[in-house]
Amino acid sequence: MRPKIICHMVSSVDGRLLVDRWTPPAAGIDADIVHRTYDQVASRFDADGWIVGRKTMEGYAKGKARPPGTIPADLRAPHVADRRGRDTAVAMDPHGRLHYGRDHAGGDHIVAVLGEQVTDEYLAELREDGVSYLFAGPDGHDLHRAMDILGDTFGISTLLLEGGGTINGAFLKAGLIDGISLLMYPGIDGLAGVPSIFEYGGTDDERPAAGRSLRHLATETLEGGMVWLHYAVEGAPASP
Ligand SMILES: NC(=O)c1ccc[n+]([C@@H]2O[C@H](COP(=O)([O-])OP(=O)(O)OC[C@H]3O[C@@H](n4cnc5c(N)ncnc54)[C@H](OP(=O)(O)O)[C@@H]3O)[C@@H](O)[C@H]2O)c1
Repeated sequence: MRPKIICHMVSSVDGRLLVDRWTPPAAGIDADIVHRTYDQVASRFDADGWIVGRKTMEGYAKGKARPPGTIPADLRAPHVADRRGRDTAVAMDPHGRLHYGRDHAGGDHIVAVLGEQVTDEYLAELREDGVSYLFAGPDGHDLHRAMDILGDTFGISTLLLEGGGTINGAFLKAGLIDGISLLMYPGIDGLAGVPSIFEYGGTDDERPAAGRSLRHLATETLEGGMVWLHYAVEGAPASP
């Protein structure tokens, strides 16, 4: 069974995603308010880990491509490395572009979700790094299959989907988001075209959230004027 997935994000009051572009906090409010509050609210969910897109994971993956020492046989099944009881950091990386050089992101064990077309050399590198991996179909975009493997093989029951907008949009379109936890920071971006928390790359007539409704669960005003909005996602995705 797939994990429950809660999309946990922080946006400016104009719904934009790129934290570094926002106006600073009002005088007397700690500059660290965004990251601190984000982590505090995340911890309320008691999740088994978090999922991010390839671009967001680039901030953690600081290794370099290198030829592996040896290439083991039987690399093509899901690989569960030594998690040592840690939470999981799931990277949606269809082409195997990320090089980790370690087995964790911020202390959480990395699980790479890949397309089947990645090379044996790349899989051997992940094994040397101690990284777990699994396959999301030939092109790495079969999100349902990936989530089923995380539930059934990795024993994961709840995950926070933590962006960016592209991967959030793909999960939304796939009908895989069960809840939304949105922090609104009292700041502004203001520039047209800057991404929002959902950025599904479809055609003009597509509605990636068709068939779904949001049920309000809670609203809280937090430190520094951050506002937390919590919703359950109800309904089923409309047929394409
Ligand atoms: N405000 C917040 O709470 C928050 C949270 C997280 C991130 N961010 C910001 O968001 C920005 C990155 O967001 P982003 O939207 O550009 O990138 P992203 O969602 O982090 O990553 C997108 C990439 O994920 C891969 N991917 C895997 N499966 C996919 C699928 N089914 N459909 C589409 N893509 C799939 C693709 O990699 P390939 O290109 O290799 O195919 C795609 O380019 C960063 O600036 C980050 O700081 C903000």
